Amino acid sequence: MKPLWIKHAAQLATIAGENAPRKRKEMSELGIIEDGSIWIEDGVIQAIGTTEELEHQYGDRAAEAEIIDATGRLVTPGLVDPHTHVAYGGSREREFEMRLEGATYMEIMNAGGGIHATTRMTRESTEEELAEQTVRRLDSFLKHGVTTVEGKSGYGLDLETELKQLRVMKRLNEIHPIDLVPTFMAAHAVPQEYKGNEDEYIDSIINDMLPVVAKEGLAVFNDVFCEVGVFTPEQSERILEAGKKHGLIPKIHADEIESYGGAELAAKVGAISAEHLLKASDEGIKQMAEAGVIACLLPATALFLREEAAKGRKMVDEGVAVAISTDCNPGSSPTTSMPLVMNLACISMRLTPAEALVAATMNAACAIKMEDKVGSLEVGKQGDIVMWNISTYQELQYLFGVNHVDKVWKKGARVLG
Ligand code: NIG
Ligand code: FE
Repeated sequence: MKPLWIKHAAQLATIAGENAPRKRKEMSELGIIEDGSIWIEDGVIQAIGTTEELEHQYGDRAAEAEIIDATGRLVTPGLVDPHTHVAYGGSREREFEMRLEGATYMEIMNAGGGIHATTRMTRESTEEELAEQTVRRLDSFLKHGVTTVEGKSGYGLDLETELKQLRVMKRLNEIHPIDLVPTFMAAHAVPQEYKGNEDEYIDSIINDMLPVVAKEGLAVFNDVFCEVGVFTPEQSERILEAGKKHGLIPKIHADEIESYGGAELAAKVGAISAEHLLKASDEGIKQMAEAGVIACLLPATALFLREEAAKGRKMVDEGVAVAISTDCNPGSSPTTSMPLVMNLACISMRLTPAEALVAATMNAACAIKMEDKVGSLEVGKQGDIVMWNISTYQELQYLFGVNHVDKVWKKGARVLG
């Protein structure tokens, strides 16, 4: 592959700095280089600076490179989506109508729809069908400038189908340009066949599923839906502690629908991130800041459920590192648009345009332990890059609801545009 040389970017937002979750003021530091330039070889960033600086360094090798003129364009790291349920079967547009007609998300789930409906459709899908549907969604992520995606199981709720989801993600990680980082989430719901025997299902997660998933190296993280009517904080803690014994890092769907001590539990078990947090308590937010738990906020989910968004502004101000994500799933957020999520982070959570970009790059990378490879444009990191049809990061958040992606590179190879 030829080296790639991007020159003359109006704004090159490097997000350069420490490979660590950015907090408070650090969330506004974009490391902007005007008339920016970047040289990528063997998939890895070799040099970054002004075009003038790189002319000195690489000018004599210009003939070997593919040269991209980024005049008038914003260039950023590939976006990172740190929370999705991308590998699912079927679709649930009828539930969207039902919710608009007055049903609530939990009513639909308790009546056997919601997560249970997708579980049935995912169990019925062959591995091939599931892979095909997932590829379509991953392609859509790429079109929206997303080059790294976390994906959860949790629509199997039995060993066989949980493994099917995780194996599909493993295979797609190998063959699709997107880096797909897997999370085990059998604790997404209590399957209907275990209704009334919740603890028996938890035993099965701990004794039958976790050891196999860990042994086969199919997941990095272990996630639980800690919510009234799903898993209690005590049950969630048991599952997360068991995962830790197998080397799986805890994540928690916390305080999404009701305030339930999920944020506090995230701090207690040392979760890398807590997700949703629409109803997180002030005390929970404080404890997350102290424990260094990343808040993974999902403003498209709040919008789609017609709920008030999480207190993103307050969390940043109180020293919580905030990441943002689509939550791509068939029930509460069937979108693959991280640009829209950045827009909503500003509009509904009052993050600034700079903070929203850091939340979708560096902090998102930290939430899935990919910060050594992606999340910023720095020498030694992967050449995961988006060139946008606009010239400033402010426009990216201001011209909302529009996909401004022009070109995308993954590990230095052009995958879009
Ligand atoms: O993160 N809240 C729980 N899980 C998903 C929704 C899953 C579904 O409705 O299928 C979420 O929003
Ligand atoms: Fe989710």
